[in-house]
Amino acid sequence: GADVEADISKIEPGQLIRVIWRSKPVWITRRTPELLESLTKIDDLLKDPNSEEDQQPEFARNSYRSIKAEYSVLVGICTHLGCSPQHLKDGAFEEYVEGVPEGFHCPCHGSKFDMAGRVFNNVPAPLNLVVPPYMYLDDNTILIG
Ligand code: FES
Repeated sequence: GADVEADISKIEPGQLIRVIWRSKPVWITRRTPELLESLTKIDDLLKDPNSEEDQQPEFARNSYRSIKAEYSVLVGICTHLGCSPQHLKDGAFEEYVEGVPEGFHCPCHGSKFDMAGRVFNNVPAPLNLVVPPYMYLDDNTILIG
């Protein structure tokens, strides 16, 4: 079928893996406690910190936007015109947002997203990255679709 199972048992803390779901890139990130803490402190920099603007699962209407806080699941397609944002970490994202060391930057027109896929202010993308439908089959397996 069109649904995809992802094995998350080997994702290291801080690592992002990519899977393809219905021809779309989906990013699964294992977020560290430090990163999760940082996500709760940047609401002022974001257009829609609680994902109220668009069609999103109920569990996405907060700083983490995931079923389990540790694992983020996002469609890796810019909500502006559909380019593929780049994952920048280890301070590389500070070139785009001061004080935020990690995030996603879209090379097409400069939209920026945090590690929950929330869009920053003053960029062309109107909405947060899409959280796809997914569920946990067990602790190590996510079913996307
Ligand atoms: Fe990403 Fe325009 S497509 S900023």
